[in-house]
Amino acid sequence: MPKIFVTRKILEAGIKKLQNAGYEVEVNPEDRVLTKDELIKQVKQVKPDAVLALLTDKLDAEVFEAAAGVKIFANMAVGFDNVDVAAAKKAGIMVANTPGVLTDTVAEHTFALMLAIAHRVSEGDRFARAGKYHGWEPMMLLGTDLSQKVVGILGLGRIGSRVVHHAAKGFDARVIYYDVKRNEDFEKEIGAEFRATPEEVLKEADFVSIHVPLLSQTRHLINAERLKLMKPTAYLINTSRGPVVDEKALAEALKNGIIKGAALDVFENEPAIEPELLKLENIILTPHIASATEETRAKMAELAAENIIAALSGKEPPNLVK
Ligand code: GLV
Repeated sequence: MPKIFVTRKILEAGIKKLQNAGYEVEVNPEDRVLTKDELIKQVKQVKPDAVLALLTDKLDAEVFEAAAGVKIFANMAVGFDNVDVAAAKKAGIMVANTPGVLTDTVAEHTFALMLAIAHRVSEGDRFARAGKYHGWEPMMLLGTDLSQKVVGILGLGRIGSRVVHHAAKGFDARVIYYDVKRNEDFEKEIGAEFRATPEEVLKEADFVSIHVPLLSQTRHLINAERLKLMKPTAYLINTSRGPVVDEKALAEALKNGIIKGAALDVFENEPAIEPELLKLENIILTPHIASATEETRAKMAELAAENIIAALSGKEPPNLVK
């Protein structure tokens, strides 16, 4: 019976799918991230045919070298910057991810952050709980509207496109975007405008939302210099990957009024968060939960399982990373 090792407890839907396919499933008994040494030890001990892994697992050459007999590492995430795909290929191991099923949820979370920072939701909540609310005031906690503003998107992939759609259709925003690939059909369909550089987006937008993958070219895409291009009234939202934003530079920009506010779901050195950011009122921080709904995490677990089932049946996994 083929054996699957799951690196950490996930929603039952994924485990059931694997068991229904006739596999023996072994889940890391500890509900925590395994260190690389522990992961290697587990893989050597369990000798699985496939591994269902998470974005918190660092999957590099050492892991793949120790994973003799493993056909596929199915990453339960759309991002796969935690995986050295070239090293997996060299070891003859497939890698898959879970795109598509989390698009709507991450787009929703992006708006949750965008609206929360602009309408000062967290700040208002802290204010009320601190007993500071003594009655309605005409100028208390004034925020900013999203409607009819300029929303700037960096990265027009699945999630970026969905955010453009909601901004344009739901909030009558004018949407501008930068991507390495222009999509004129999408521009016509939604009314989005292409900008040839990220700088142009940063200069013009009232809300900048980041949806790029983490690559060497996108690391610190948002740095001190680029933050200075933004309007002092603008907000920065990041639901992609933490290292795309230089957190120290962002803290400085927020402190010095270079930009008005920010909201981050991802961090440069997760789970650590730049301490200076924690002191600020004009930022909202959520702990990498943009895809964390019951429905979506179940779908992600199932899709990761489907990738494994395909690989072990001699088929190409639907989400093979090439
Ligand atoms: C979450 O960050 C993912 O990549 O799925």
